[in-house]
Amino acid sequence: MLDLTGKNALVTGIANNRSIAWGIAQQLHQAGANLGITYLPDEKGRNESKVQKLVEPLSPSLYLPCNVQDQAQVDATFGEIKKQWGRVDILIHCLAFANRDDLGGDFSAVKQENFNLALDVSAYSLVQMSAAAKPLMTEGGSIVTLTYLGGARVVPNYNVMGIAKAALEMNVRYLAAEMGPQNVRVNGISAGPIRTLASSAVGGILDMIHHVEEIAPLKRTVTQTEVGNTAAFLCSDLSTGITGQILYVDSGYSIMGM
Ligand SMILES: NC(=O)c1ccc[n+]([C@@H]2O[C@H](COP(=O)([O-])OP(=O)(O)OC[C@H]3O[C@@H](n4cnc5c(N)ncnc54)[C@H](O)[C@@H]3O)[C@@H](O)[C@H]2O)c1
Repeated sequence: MLDLTGKNALVTGIANNRSIAWGIAQQLHQAGANLGITYLPDEKGRNESKVQKLVEPLSPSLYLPCNVQDQAQVDATFGEIKKQWGRVDILIHCLAFANRDDLGGDFSAVKQENFNLALDVSAYSLVQMSAAAKPLMTEGGSIVTLTYLGGARVVPNYNVMGIAKAALEMNVRYLAAEMGPQNVRVNGISAGPIRTLASSAVGGILDMIHHVEEIAPLKRTVTQTEVGNTAAFLCSDLSTGITGQILYVDSGYSIMGM
């Protein structure tokens, strides 16, 4: 049975009720996990109150600001986890960022600064958060990140984010090799296209979804709940033999050649 009772789970990346992280948080809660939620702080505090209201029904025992571009906020998040929980068992890394201008047009037009920004927020942040979580995963653990097919193959407009996802997927393997002896598993879910705030920045996202609906064996794209269920599985004792893997939750789209 999928049971996460007694597990402390930190979920990053909830922006609104379309977020994949929201689908994951709901499934972890349903499986009995104790939740900690981080949000991306903004100057007017809008995200803080918006996300807080959304996650209230899941009764998170921690609710913290965490911009991964600010190491002090990452340190403060894990400092609070240490103080209040003592240990963490599950880390959901579900965040990414690239400038909208770089998610369309010629890939080669990307500026160095924007390239670094996309890789910093979308790929390095997994290393950064895993390093902070590692000493607190004293009873083993599971780290799950979100990736996309555009990190393994060329998908029009995905551009610099594809490079970031390729780095992210390799991060998964190196982290899995490092943390395996501590019984910490690290895996990625490669989700099919879903309409969210982040994906709306990718040029032609609706065309991508329609293409999947036509080509994928299941003739539809996936839902946040389906991704959430797979994340819950990867965090549970049902998947203790799985680490360093990228699991495709994409209605089978990635197996098709034509
Ligand atoms: N939507 C899709 O089609 C799709 C498909 C495959 C993978 N993914 C991946 O899923 C993950 C979640 O994206 P989503 O589609 O749910 O969109 P989303 O916009 O709901 O989530 C992205 C999150 O990243 C957070 N974020 C951005 N910059 C940050 C920073 N500096 N520090 C902390 N948080 C920051 C945002 O606050 C937001 O919560 C991303 O890694 C995305 O690439 C999405």
